Amino acid sequence: SSYETILVERREAVTLVTLNRPQALNALNSQVLDDLLAAMAAFDADATQGCAVVTGSERAFAAGADIKEMQSQGFADMYAHDFFAGWDRFTRTRKPIIAAVSGYALGGGCELAMMCDFILAADNAKFGQPEIKLAVSPGMGGSQRLTRAVGKAKAMEMCLTGRMMDAAEAERAGLASRVVQAAEVVEEAVKTAATIAGMAPLAVLANKEMVNAAFETSLSAGVQFERRLFHGLFGTADQKEGMAAFVEKRPGAWTGK
Ligand code: HXC
Repeated sequence: SSYETILVERREAVTLVTLNRPQALNALNSQVLDDLLAAMAAFDADATQGCAVVTGSERAFAAGADIKEMQSQGFADMYAHDFFAGWDRFTRTRKPIIAAVSGYALGGGCELAMMCDFILAADNAKFGQPEIKLAVSPGMGGSQRLTRAVGKAKAMEMCLTGRMMDAAEAERAGLASRVVQAAEVVEEAVKTAATIAGMAPLAVLANKEMVNAAFETSLSAGVQFERRLFHGLFGTADQKEGMAAFVEKRPGAWTGK
């Protein structure tokens, strides 16, 4: 692949993106953001690709935003350039993205993992929002997404003390969907991504969109949104195929129509 800070590999219908700045524990600088946005745009646009996995190294998913890049910035620069706003585009990727997290997912690294659709944690994963130790705060959505994921008590404690949460606690608290052995987390994520990529593409988009709506709407508006999308799926050829395949006891053959 032609990126500076990430490796992109296509494994059949799964796009595997590996953060690759080992000398900085995959700290997220502007180049990583540019590379990830380009890779995710290409993934979304490629009809052969159904699900992505974002991962780091066994030692670090990502140890945060790049402190050395931010160190000398003042308020005027940060505000004028709306520093970190580009990460919002990552969350507008329409197809699903799984975070496979080994080692440190700290600060912006934890925030990037939470921008993905779900987190598979390796047993050595460590999540944290330690920005307060640098006299700053989360800036890529961590205070909001962590609170929604694990509730106020744990999110507040983690943001105020900077303490890390291990994989077992992350799973109990609802931050990670599952914990698997570190040596297997990438393969397990790719396998899970392949399962998702094997579903009818429009149903995948709709399911992601409606779960995400739960974070933006009231219950009644969210249920209404779900129902309309559900109704809409009955206008697809793949719904006819999926239900026929079930009745005929065979796998569905999707057209994405
Ligand atoms: C830049 C980083 C970095 C980071 C690590 N490195 N994290 N560089 N930005 N966030 C670099 C180190 O400087 C070092 O480079 C190399 O990676 C290896 O790190 P070590 O510290 O030597 O490794 P270790 O002793 O194993 O400690 C691992 C660690 C520690 C516990 C993860 O690196 C650490 O605390 N990192 C910072 C974590 C953090 O505060 N993250 C939040 C960042 S702020 P050299 O050149 O010395 O070998 C953030 C903000 C969002 O994300 C919003 C705020 C505006």
